[in-house]
Amino acid sequence: MFNNNTIQRFNDTETPFYYYDMDVLRNTLDACRDASSKYGFHVHYAMKANFNPKVVDMIQSFGFGADCVSGNEVKAAIEHGFDKEKVVFAGVGKSDKEINLALDANIFCFNVESVQELEIINDLAKAKNKVAGIAIRINPNVDAHTHHFITTGLDENKFGINTWQLNDVAETLRKCDNLKFLGIHFHIGSQITDMEVYRNLCTRINEMQDWFENHGFTIKILNTGGGLGVDYYNPDTNGIADFESYFKVFSKFLNVKPGQEVHFELGRAMVAQSASLISRVLYVKNGQKKNFLILDAGMTELMRPMLYQAYHAIENLSKQLAVGSGQSEQENHSPVSTHHSTIKYDVVGPICESTDCFRKDVDLPQSYRGDLIAIRTAGAYGEVMASGYNLRDHVQSIYSE
Ligand code: LLP
Repeated sequence: MFNNNTIQRFNDTETPFYYYDMDVLRNTLDACRDASSKYGFHVHYAMKANFNPKVVDMIQSFGFGADCVSGNEVKAAIEHGFDKEKVVFAGVGKSDKEINLALDANIFCFNVESVQELEIINDLAKAKNKVAGIAIRINPNVDAHTHHFITTGLDENKFGINTWQLNDVAETLRKCDNLKFLGIHFHIGSQITDMEVYRNLCTRINEMQDWFENHGFTIKILNTGGGLGVDYYNPDTNGIADFESYFKVFSKFLNVKPGQEVHFELGRAMVAQSASLISRVLYVKNGQKKNFLILDAGMTELMRPMLYQAYHAIENLSKQLAVGSGQSEQENHSPVSTHHSTIKYDVVGPICESTDCFRKDVDLPQSYRGDLIAIRTAGAYGEVMASGYNLRDHVQSIYSE
């Protein structure tokens, strides 16, 4: 929901751009902190979801930790002031250079995804005369009931260590003097809204910690990963992810022993609703079978719809402004409809790819060249996945005041 002053400001700004509503971000982070601190849970922000500097600074100011998946993310987290004791480093393919960087930064924990990676981190730590904190990322074979492109916890996925390899893990850990075993790590997928899935995950985590303890290991950290989903359909009426129910499931079903810490790595739920991609209609093509709205933003600015068939709400803001203020057709380029009829448009971008389509058959009021279009819930995996394909300008950002 944008007020008229904000839409006027958009009118004066070159499109396309990401608009960050810092109040939405603040309220979301507040809700996350309140809901997690009730149980003494530790939340690391998954930097990959959005590393816009202002966004990251605000998240850091709340005292969350950082979950990183590259050396550069580790570096950025430290530069943004995250406590190194709260930085974790995951990823199925950490390079030697990245591991060395993280060792030099003395981060809290590496989430390790293979037996070979354990050996390499041990060797690199030994060369520096250091001991690396590690958690074993286990693939729990739990179905996340989400889009298969963003499911990570099934046997068929490349992530984590499968349970039948745990004997190898135990043996390797016993002989690696430069590793300090901290605990176990999981991440089963993203955009998960079914709390039953987390309950199943808790069951698997409980089994896994029994396994490790039966094999002589002490578990300090239970890291459940991220994945909490948001409501892409109702960004205004349901703008804050259900942190309450999410943390409650873990408090209820996770078997947390004295001295253990429970860690989370949330990305999307913390940032998704705080941004919209604002674009303008360049051309309207009325075909015999289809009407197209051709925007000045495309898959180079927001890739999710093209990559995962992801739904984002699409709104015509110029029409909203016109209806709100009773402006005339000339003033606003868009006729104010006296009736509330809509037209179906395929909303597409300017990129030379057929897949460059935000959504087909979107019901919108009749739209015109120059109208402002908002693509909502774009704060997570939006700006960070922008590309320079077609030699496009890097997408700009503006912020609420
Ligand atoms: N921890 C690990 C190890 C992860 O791989 C991820 C996300 C997270 C935490 C944070 O997950 P979240 O809370 O944001 O669901 N680009 C895709 C999503 C990819 C998620 C990758 N891993 C999308 O736009 O839907």
